Amino acid sequence: MRKITFAFLIAYFFGTTICFADPFYWGVASAAFQVEGSPADSDWKIWTHTPGKIEDGTNADRATDFWNRYDEDFQLAGKTDGESPSLGANAFRISLAWERIEPEKGKFSEDALNHYLEMVKSMRQHGLEPFLTLHHFAFPLWVAKGGGPLADSFPNDFAEYAEKVVQFFAQHGSPVHFWMTFNEPNVLAYEGYIYGEWPPGEKGPTQEALKVQFNLAQAHLLAAHKMKIADPTSKVGIALHWRVFQPKRKNFLDARVATVLDFLFNRYFLNTIVKGSPCTSLIQMFCAKTKISTAGALDFIGVNYYSRSLASFTVKAPYYVVEEGTGPHKNDLGWEIYPEGLGIALKDLSAYKKSIVITENGIADHADQWRSSFLLDHIKVLKEAQRSGIDVMGYFYWSLTDNFEWARGLKANFGLVEIRYDTFKRIPRPSFYTYQKIIKDSQAKSVSLERSFGN
Ligand code: GCO
Repeated sequence: MRKITFAFLIAYFFGTTICFADPFYWGVASAAFQVEGSPADSDWKIWTHTPGKIEDGTNADRATDFWNRYDEDFQLAGKTDGESPSLGANAFRISLAWERIEPEKGKFSEDALNHYLEMVKSMRQHGLEPFLTLHHFAFPLWVAKGGGPLADSFPNDFAEYAEKVVQFFAQHGSPVHFWMTFNEPNVLAYEGYIYGEWPPGEKGPTQEALKVQFNLAQAHLLAAHKMKIADPTSKVGIALHWRVFQPKRKNFLDARVATVLDFLFNRYFLNTIVKGSPCTSLIQMFCAKTKISTAGALDFIGVNYYSRSLASFTVKAPYYVVEEGTGPHKNDLGWEIYPEGLGIALKDLSAYKKSIVITENGIADHADQWRSSFLLDHIKVLKEAQRSGIDVMGYFYWSLTDNFEWARGLKANFGLVEIRYDTFKRIPRPSFYTYQKIIKDSQAKSVSLERSFGN
């Protein structure tokens, strides 16, 4: 860590702009259910076929047909080959569909595992470091029917699945070093158990969502220990959605509300996997403690950053209101474009003293009106954070291509590359070339540094 900070200082003084650590991972991110198509049986497959659940009435049955076209996408993302357009990225984040790999409890599909192995090999051929997420929102039916992440058996079930996957890749030469157990455990808990907009569709109290987050944290811890035994070279992280909560008005009550929401949404899961308990000395009432050791269970923190929220106090239960930020520019989904928030998130996360990867950052922008400036502005903030000594080791834009945006369906377009859903033709948008240039310029200036984990 000290070595890295020192080298950055040197790099900073000798260059006009910051040099990224080598390897700095420039990537794009995706998730199985959103791109693969031909989904196996899962809670999300059922949800997308339930009338009224998906805003535009679409489903993910075909998605972007990534299951069959992954090589084309990796070629598009990977190192430049001179002929077809390619981004020049050196990393790609995908997720594995648990429901394909373990369609029944304890019965693992060699076919599915082999298919993912082929994907990883293809990534490597295109110069892409694989970052694999073990769970990105969809649950196999047997897990969902057994109570999902609320069930007592959940941590063990997930840990067995994680162990099996890592063992499989270890037996095939360990081509994957970077793993994330869960994507956005906090979002899963809120959308599924408070807002009811995702399966299982419960509109419950905050308490329920905290239970979900706590159980997911225990599952992370159990899984991380097993993964490290299955492949001692593996680096285990998570991908956490980090929302910046700011008080709407400058008063004490709004400030308290913002702090409490930040704790419940951003820190509850993270504190548990880092400290064994979500509690801070300030807020004791939500205290729970895990008996599972946290030692060595987190090598890096992945952060998915999109926007901020304004929080205010109200006298009516549940005593708070959360609104979108009020800045002048919004994406197609109405989310404020707020690059400064990435800097706030990175600073807050640096207190956890782990390497940080920006595992998602992106914009729904069909017309590609804002995407280039979005990329430039957020990456500027990332560079400033690095200059201030924060250890950020990668940036993944969400997403290479348009894809299935959960309850919003196919109409939200986050892609650097447009998908024509009638033909599955991939058409790079102008911002694809902006990101390509950012990567190229930064690679030309990169310095060679050795990365230290577990600091
Ligand atoms: C999430 C996920 C992605 C989304 C992306 C855009 O944040 O919900 O990780 O699956 O598609 O963030 O909303």
